[in-house]
Amino acid sequence: MNNNVAIFGLSWGDEGKGKFVDYFAQRADIVVRYNGGNNAGHTINADGIKYKFKIMPSGAALEKECIIANGCVVDPKVLLEEIDDLKKLNKKINLKLSSTAHVIFPFHRTLDALEEVMKGKYSAGTTKRGIGPTYSDKASRWGLRIFDLINPEIMRPKLDKLLSIKKKLIKVYDPDWNDNLESIFEEYKSYGELLKPYVIDTAYYLNKLNDSGKKIVFEAAQDNLLGLDHGFYPFGTSSNSNALGISAGTGIPPTKINKIFGIIKAYTSRVGEGKFPTELVDDTAERIREQGHEYGTVTGRPRRVGWLDLFNIKYGIMINGVDKIILTLLDALEGIDPIKICTGYELNGRILESWPIQHEIIEKCIPIYKSFQGWKARTRAEWLEIAQKGYDALPETMKTYIQSIKEELGMDIAFLSIGPDRLETIVLDNDIF
Ligand code: GDP
Ligand code: IMO
Ligand code: MG
Repeated sequence: MNNNVAIFGLSWGDEGKGKFVDYFAQRADIVVRYNGGNNAGHTINADGIKYKFKIMPSGAALEKECIIANGCVVDPKVLLEEIDDLKKLNKKINLKLSSTAHVIFPFHRTLDALEEVMKGKYSAGTTKRGIGPTYSDKASRWGLRIFDLINPEIMRPKLDKLLSIKKKLIKVYDPDWNDNLESIFEEYKSYGELLKPYVIDTAYYLNKLNDSGKKIVFEAAQDNLLGLDHGFYPFGTSSNSNALGISAGTGIPPTKINKIFGIIKAYTSRVGEGKFPTELVDDTAERIREQGHEYGTVTGRPRRVGWLDLFNIKYGIMINGVDKIILTLLDALEGIDPIKICTGYELNGRILESWPIQHEIIEKCIPIYKSFQGWKARTRAEWLEIAQKGYDALPETMKTYIQSIKEELGMDIAFLSIGPDRLETIVLDNDIF
């Protein structure tokens, strides 16, 4: 019996994964983060509280069992801060941390910043949280895992080796850089002591829970277009941040993944660098940014915004085997008229059959748009009232917009979101588990 579902973003992030993982968690037993680290920023607005989770799974707001699985990279200091913040809110912590997740060290953050400078026009505009260098060390097989962190006698020689190499590397670019083994070791030893009670083999544990019929939500960090293998390389992140990352990142076999929800917002946003074919740089962009509060949850950077790109979303639906769509931030387009959707790309006078993946090709493509009539601005109280009344109460022009997305994608839309609050949700198909 597989009672699990996955939620991942189909664009460049910040589609409202946190909101819907929390929404699904109302009916779930366990929430699992399977990729990424504290580059993620997932927001939940519920019961008058605003949570902004970085590495903690979004089930924590509802005190659900939360699992940080092996595919994640963990900055122990950040995780401990998040645990403390939740304790201050009198929240029960029910956390399991994988012994095989990898550890982010201070030199990873240093290298992240240095590599970004070295990459010049190829830099992704990272969050500088050390994500790329930590995954690089994992792939090079000298990274340290949570198991090492909680066993200081094992951590010490490995850290000694890794730091000596990183020192040489970093000093090429920054001769004054100095990081002290003793202080890092002592600092991380104390993190290990604090995190030890949470550490287990999460793959074994999760399989047992799954086989016993527990309801599990897999929560992606980042999104399909930021993914390492199938995203907008090299302008993305360093993990498989789509549904394809679930099995490798948790140890739950592909044959046991039950249902996959792909989440999109009514337009597109992007934090960081790289071509963004449907980007807007005019007053409309400014208005959408303000109405959607499009500022990075982690870094506070203004997010770039543009029209919804269904061409790359269709590609994402194909490679991830998406079952159902969640459509968010419809309210944020209020007062914008016309609203556009990109349905395909044209290259050298030819309409492309499939999203071209390579950024050098995408840079030369011209998006093809369909235009739609917008809907008028409303107060938060009015949007909430509409959400409570349901689909029929939506503005007719919004219904046409939603219907066209559905038809263009050839997919059912299961949930709509017209506000940040848990209550500002419209259910079209309540079959989650
Ligand atoms: P995530 O990274 O996918 O979890 O998304 P973020 O939390 O980084 O960004 C989404 C932002 O939009 C957050 O501030 C949410 O509170 C907010 N949000 C989510 N759904 C809606 C919605 O339907 N309307 C509005 N106005 N805001 C929303
Ligand atoms: P959530 O989970 C939006 C972007 C960064 C940069 C690239 C690589 O909240 O959707 P990294 O620090 O991962 O090496 O940066 O990926 N990025 C995100 N953009 N939302 C995120 O997470 C992101 N996590 C990373 O801006 O372009
Ligand atoms: Mg986010």
